[in-house]
Amino acid sequence: MLTASFTGALSGTLRVPGDKSISHRALMFAALAIGETRIDGLLEGEDVLRTAAAMRALGAQVTQERPGMWRVTGAGLGGLREPEDVLDMGNSGTAARLLCGILASHPIFAVMTGDASLRRRPMARVTTPLGETGARFSARDGGRLPLAIEGARDALPLDHRMTVASAQVKSAILLAGLNARGITRVEEPVPTRDHSENMLRHFGADVQVTEADGGKLIELVGQPTLRAADVVVPGDPSSAAFPIVAALTVPGSRIRIEGVGLNPLRTGLFLTLREMGAALTVGNERVEGGEPVGDIEVAASSLRAVDVPAARAPSMIDEYPVLAVACAYAGGTSRLRGLGELRVKESDRLAATAALLAGNGVDVAIEGDDLMVTGAGGPPPGGGTVVTHMDHRLAMSGLVLGAGARAAVSVDEVAFIDTSFPGFAALMTGLGCRFA
Ligand code: S3P
Repeated sequence: MLTASFTGALSGTLRVPGDKSISHRALMFAALAIGETRIDGLLEGEDVLRTAAAMRALGAQVTQERPGMWRVTGAGLGGLREPEDVLDMGNSGTAARLLCGILASHPIFAVMTGDASLRRRPMARVTTPLGETGARFSARDGGRLPLAIEGARDALPLDHRMTVASAQVKSAILLAGLNARGITRVEEPVPTRDHSENMLRHFGADVQVTEADGGKLIELVGQPTLRAADVVVPGDPSSAAFPIVAALTVPGSRIRIEGVGLNPLRTGLFLTLREMGAALTVGNERVEGGEPVGDIEVAASSLRAVDVPAARAPSMIDEYPVLAVACAYAGGTSRLRGLGELRVKESDRLAATAALLAGNGVDVAIEGDDLMVTGAGGPPPGGGTVVTHMDHRLAMSGLVLGAGARAAVSVDEVAFIDTSFPGFAALMTGLGCRFA
């Protein structure tokens, strides 16, 4: 358990750990390539370490050269070997779902499980379309883990129209298409993060994207030769969100975060915070390893309520718990729309975010798929204990709430923070936070 209590102004210059989405993909794609890939800035969080272990079990050589610097010698596309034991993906939905895609078109047998949180999450959203490749999946009721996969020998390419805005589903289908003959097509009415498309191209795959009516058609040519290609992982904007909201809400704060990923499909939170009146500026914009990055400066600000359209949700899907914390400090009622997908994250994040705020004296309501938060235009009462339900982002959001609240906020379980943000407590206390 950790308790965050009111602190003086936060200040300092920092970096946040590497991007989780990009780290998983770098390990997986390098494992499918021929040759040796070096990955600089890999997130060494529990989730990504599960992917590293899985790719090793599937025949790739994956080694840490020094902290943050990893080497992967690929098994080559089609060259994965049957794992001798169950693949345990821990807390990570991204690892589990993307791996289902890869394994669907490799003619091997594998069994996959995860922790209690992951075993509750829906997998049918990937296993149902992936079954059309010829792969066979057997899973628990509701398509949940543990599940067994018999990959297809001659996988068929899929032509899939997305029914849920999910980069994990899109990526799983594209990854299955890597080892299928012919062209895999994914139609995406609402664009989601495109790290898979960008990085597959970086490793030599032919990926074409056509934009139409606000959506995208992604076409991947099967059976490319993937060649090792070094990857530089930017700082995770979803992790940067926590010190950013803490600095915005604790009076007198000013911080600078260097090297944050700024892929436009990930930056909905920064736009939203600016709409709330946040003093948040981005400087030194550059491209590193094929992804836009920049340095973010943020100063404590008087925030006003915001109405966030549902269409923005995919570009900030992991940031709603900490945005809701910012809304608790803002003057007026905020409406965060279209959050149905939060119900199937590491926890039911919609209900758990509402409970986090309500337990700390904040006026909050769920209306359909929308979250309504009424802030007092200053520090919320606090004084509660946050139940995290094995969800790293709820734990960090609770601690951020406590950094500026009138009474201390406790968080029941902080171990899961290590899935995405190892060193979070030390980094925040380094800025001036009081965590005990
Ligand atoms: C991710 C996609 C999102 C996000 C998750 C990472 C990815 O999940 O919530 O943390 O790396 O593709 P969904 O695809 O379920 O929206």
